[in-house]
Amino acid sequence: MNAAALSGSDFAVIGGTGMNQWPGLEIERRLAAETPFGAPSAPLLLGRVGAARAWFLARHGEGHKLPPHAINYRANLWALHAQGVQRVVAIAAVGAIAEWFTPGEIALPEDLIDYTWGREHSFSDGREGSALRHVEFTQPYSPQLREQLRSAAARCQVTVAGAGVMAVTQGPRLETAAEIRRLRRDGADMVGMTGMPEAALAAELGMDYACLAVSVNWAAGVKGLGDIHAEIAQSVELGMRKVRAVLAAMLDA
Ligand code: HPA
Repeated sequence: MNAAALSGSDFAVIGGTGMNQWPGLEIERRLAAETPFGAPSAPLLLGRVGAARAWFLARHGEGHKLPPHAINYRANLWALHAQGVQRVVAIAAVGAIAEWFTPGEIALPEDLIDYTWGREHSFSDGREGSALRHVEFTQPYSPQLREQLRSAAARCQVTVAGAGVMAVTQGPRLETAAEIRRLRRDGADMVGMTGMPEAALAAELGMDYACLAVSVNWAAGVKGLGDIHAEIAQSVELGMRKVRAVLAAMLDA
C-alpha cells in the first residue's frame, strides 16, 4: 500500500447538481487545495463511508454557484490526482433522450460526444514545461470502474437502466427541441453539461473515470412540452438516493 492510500484514499466522487454534498460521508479532513491552474471548485473533503475512505469534491462549488462553463476542471482533477486519487466516479444529472432512461433512473454511460467549446480542456496547453500528448480516448469511461459500479448496484438492488452515450453541451441554458433531435441522430442517449473536459482531463492524468448518470428530466421536446424544472425537482432526489446506495455498496466491497 502506498503512502497516499494509508493517509487518504485513491477513490474520489465528484458530485454535481443534486449531489453538492455527500450525506453518507463522515468528513475527517477539508483540504483547500491550490494547483498550477488555480483553485478547485471547493475544498476537497476526505471522509469515511462505512469502513472505507473516499474524497468528495462539489463540482459547482459549495454554494452550487459555478455554471458548467466556468468550472475549473483542470484544477479539480489536478488537485485530486495530487492527493493520490486514481479512480474518479462523476455524478451527473442529465436530460434523457433515449426512451429507456426514465427520469429517476440511473445509467452507466459507455461513451460520450463533446459539444462544449471555450473551456480550458487540456493539460497539454503549450505552456512552458507542458508536454504535447495526444491522449488515447477511445473508451472515455473505465470499463473496470463501470463494472465495479454495475456489480455494486446489483448487490444493493438498484436497477441500472442501461449504458448509452452521453452528449455534453455547453449550457447553462437547456437545449432546443431541434438540438435534441440532432443529438439523437448523432447517437446520444442522454445530455449533460459537465462531462467534458472532466473525462478527458482524468484520462490525461491516467486516472480511471466513470460516470453515474441520473436522469432528471426528459430532454427538450422528447415528451412534448412539459415543465422541465418541475420534472427535475421531482426526479433528482429519487435518483440521488440510488447513487448514494450504489457508492456505499461499492465502497463496502
Ligand atoms: N440538458 C442538459 N443538461 C442537463 C439536462 C438537460 O436536459 N438536465 C440535466 N442536465
